[in-house]
Amino acid sequence: MNRRDLIRKLGMATAGMALAPYAKGMNPFLGPVLDFTRADFGKDFLWGVATAAYQIEGAWDRDGKGPSVWDTFSHRRGKIHNNENGDVSCDFYGRFATDIPFVKQMNMDVFRFSTAWARILPNGTGQVNQKGIDFYHRVIDTCLENGVQPWPTLYHWDIPQALEDKGGWQNRDVVGWFSEYADLVTRTYGDKVKNWMVLNEPMAFTAIGYLLGVHAPGKQWPKNFLPTVHHATLCQAEGGRIIRRNVPGANVGTTFSCSSAEPVNGNKVHREAVKRLDVLFNRLYIEPPQGLGYPIDDLPMLRKLENWIQPGDMEKVKFDFDFYGLQNYTRSVIKGNGIIPFVKGSPMQPKNLKPRPEITEMNWEVHPMGIYKMLKYFAKYPGIKNIIVTENGASFPDKVENARVHDVQRTRFYQDYLREVLRAKREGVNVNGYFCWTLLDNFEWAEGYDTRFGLVHVDFETQERVMKDSGLWFKEFLAD
Ligand code: GAL
Repeated sequence: MNRRDLIRKLGMATAGMALAPYAKGMNPFLGPVLDFTRADFGKDFLWGVATAAYQIEGAWDRDGKGPSVWDTFSHRRGKIHNNENGDVSCDFYGRFATDIPFVKQMNMDVFRFSTAWARILPNGTGQVNQKGIDFYHRVIDTCLENGVQPWPTLYHWDIPQALEDKGGWQNRDVVGWFSEYADLVTRTYGDKVKNWMVLNEPMAFTAIGYLLGVHAPGKQWPKNFLPTVHHATLCQAEGGRIIRRNVPGANVGTTFSCSSAEPVNGNKVHREAVKRLDVLFNRLYIEPPQGLGYPIDDLPMLRKLENWIQPGDMEKVKFDFDFYGLQNYTRSVIKGNGIIPFVKGSPMQPKNLKPRPEITEMNWEVHPMGIYKMLKYFAKYPGIKNIIVTENGASFPDKVENARVHDVQRTRFYQDYLREVLRAKREGVNVNGYFCWTLLDNFEWAEGYDTRFGLVHVDFETQERVMKDSGLWFKEFLAD
């Protein structure tokens, strides 16, 4: 039995446990009576869903779009589970007009999406694709017509292949390329859109794409990774400046992956490993914009970043973001291990934790307290004034039965994580929004289509949509 089957089995068993209260007469699909309401979060707290262009749009080569690194990477055999790709995905490109209304139906305020760089600039720079520009106008207009706020992210991992051919994020020219793109997009939509994010999880796309080689463009080793870190950090701040310049009254943010790093026990070897991995999981990208530099002291391999830092750069990486987007799914329990290069430690497999926790289809531990810890962690930085949870969610096995999807585990996941967000807020953390990952089941990067995160189920054969019980729960929870 392979890893995926094992995880699925475990998921089913836990779902069985979650259904147990039904026998005692409680509603099995919406979970136990909640101890909090929407009002507890305050009337200005924003509720939304997050998505990403490559994961939902499909239409990978339609209407003048150029290829991105994800088109190239997913077309290479053996890179993606089942050799799947995002060529069609859930066809948001053709169905946005009926998909965006789901956000409204769930009584949410915000639709977070990303613009695909290669749909707008097929070669990355230079010639503009008017049909691409028109598409995002329609997406934005559909949001506005539905009373939903559009929150675009400029970059969610899909650099144009034409630029990757010139070195992509490893080439310092990416700062100029990205600036051209950011300038065009914010000038084009800035009169209709006030809330912007620059990058999605720079740690994820630089480390998984250029250090581990599991995501596009599939490169490995620190020599490939380190230049991407500095260039992404420069783009992060430069993108912020461009948005602020082009969009009067803009609310400017950017997003970060994060995960509470905890030692498996109190031994020094594990605690020291936590310090090093905490740099990679949490600190590397959030500290430079605040003027704190790179956290080199706690991870000396980062000293090599100096090879790419030019005079004046550490000023340029600073930017006073209006909000920090916090994206959290799980925690990392760390074991020290001298064999592992540089970090000398690694996160444990959740199945080896005691007691054995609930585990999602991504092989991630369900650990609601982790989001509380990360909110407190971010809030300790004086330079972080405002936090929005820009992604949180879970993948569990789903089944359509009589046009319903009783996703008990996902519903409970959301309830348990939200309780922890509220706890942090009540303790004074300035968190002002929560966006679910994600609206629709979609292409989950290297995992392909098996791992479903949507609040709306997608049948990838027929493109039929069914709102899952988790979506219905949000609808009820957020109703006035
Ligand atoms: C995030 C990423 C999303 C989505 C999610 C679930 O790291 O930003 O695109 O894939 O993870 O795995």
